[in-house]
Amino acid sequence: MTLDYDMNILQEILLEWFAKNRRDLPWRHHPSPYQVWISEVILQQTRVSQGMDYYHRFIERWPTVEALAGASEEEVLKMWQGLGYYSRARNLHHCAQQVVAEYGGQFPADFEKLKRLKGVGDYTAAAIASIAFNLPHAVVDGNVYRVLSRLFDVDTPINNKEGQAFFARLADEQLNREQPGLHNQALMEFGALHCMPKSPNCLQCPLQAQCLAFARQTVAERPVKLAKTKVKTCYLNYLVLRGEDRLCLRKRSDKGIWHHLYDFPCVESETPLTVEAVLASEYFVQLIGNKSFTVLKVSPIYTHKLTHRTLVAQFIEIKLEQEWLPIETKDIFLTREKDLAQYPVPRLIDLYLNT
Ligand code: ADE
Ligand code: SF4
Repeated sequence: MTLDYDMNILQEILLEWFAKNRRDLPWRHHPSPYQVWISEVILQQTRVSQGMDYYHRFIERWPTVEALAGASEEEVLKMWQGLGYYSRARNLHHCAQQVVAEYGGQFPADFEKLKRLKGVGDYTAAAIASIAFNLPHAVVDGNVYRVLSRLFDVDTPINNKEGQAFFARLADEQLNREQPGLHNQALMEFGALHCMPKSPNCLQCPLQAQCLAFARQTVAERPVKLAKTKVKTCYLNYLVLRGEDRLCLRKRSDKGIWHHLYDFPCVESETPLTVEAVLASEYFVQLIGNKSFTVLKVSPIYTHKLTHRTLVAQFIEIKLEQEWLPIETKDIFLTREKDLAQYPVPRLIDLYLNT
C-alpha cells in the first residue's frame, strides 16, 4: 500500500464532516453566481436562520440579476429593511446593474473581475469564485478566523491588517484546490455548527487530534482580538411633528449614514439634551417658527449600535395646534400615517414606529 502524502488530512476530515452535517440551505441547491452572491451578502449582515427569509423574499421578487437591476433603489432598500448597514443594499442594486451592463447579466468567472463589482470585496469575490465557479480562492469570514486560529493555535490578533494578511495566507495554504467551493463552505459550516465561539464541542470533534489549541488548552483564548477604540456616542433628538392626520418625514439625502432612507426631522447633539433644550434649538425654531404646539409624548431612550458610532435616540411627539404646513424643504415633507409603511426607514425608526 502506498501512502498518499498529498492528501491533506485536515481537508479530508472537514469534507467528511460536511457531508454528514451540512444544512440544507436554499442557495445550496443550485449555487448559481446570483444566488451565491445574494445569500453571502445577506449572511454578512445576519445569521442563517433570519437570513433565509430575506433570501427567499429577494429571490422570489427578483429571480435574476436582470430583474434586480430593473428594480428601483427604494424597493431594494425596502426589501433590505431590518438588516441594517444599508450601503450593502445600495451596492447590491448597483452591482446588479453593473453585471447586466458590463457582463450581459453573467457574473464573470474571475476573482479580480468580481472584485471590481460594487460592494464585492475579498470575501464575497472568493465565495462566488469558489462556490459558483469552483475556482481556488479561500474565503475568510469570522468562522474561518476562529477555526483556523484554534487548529493552528494562532495568537496573532485577527482584527488588524497584519492579522488579516496572516489569516488570508493561512486559509489559502489550507485550501482544497480540487474542491475549493465545498472546502470553503465546510470550513464556514464547521465554525458555525461545531467549533462555535462559546463552548465548542471539542470532546466529540473529528479534528481534535489535529487541533493545536485543544492540545495546549488555549481554545477559549482563540481567536485573539485587539480591544477596539471607543466608539463615539451621538444623540438624536427626533421631532415627530403631527398635524391633523399627517406627519412630517425627512428624506436623508446627505451622504453618510442612512443615505436615501427616511426618518424624522432631528436635532443632533454630542451630549444628551433635555426636551426644553431641543425646543429652544435653532433648528426647531426655524422649522416651527411661532406656530403654537403641544408636546404629546417623549419616548423612552432607544440605543442603537453602529460600527463606528452609538446612537442614543429620543422621539419627541409634537402636535401642532393649527392647520399647518411647515415649509416643505428639499428633504422635509408631509405624509399620511397610513402611507408610512412604504418608506424604507432605518432599523431605529422602525423600532420606534412599531412600539
Ligand atoms: N456563513 C456565511 N456564508 C456561509 C456559507 N456559504 N456556508 C456556511 N456558513 C456560511
Ligand atoms: Fe474547534 Fe475544539 Fe475541534 Fe479544536 S477541538 S477544532 S477548538 S471544536
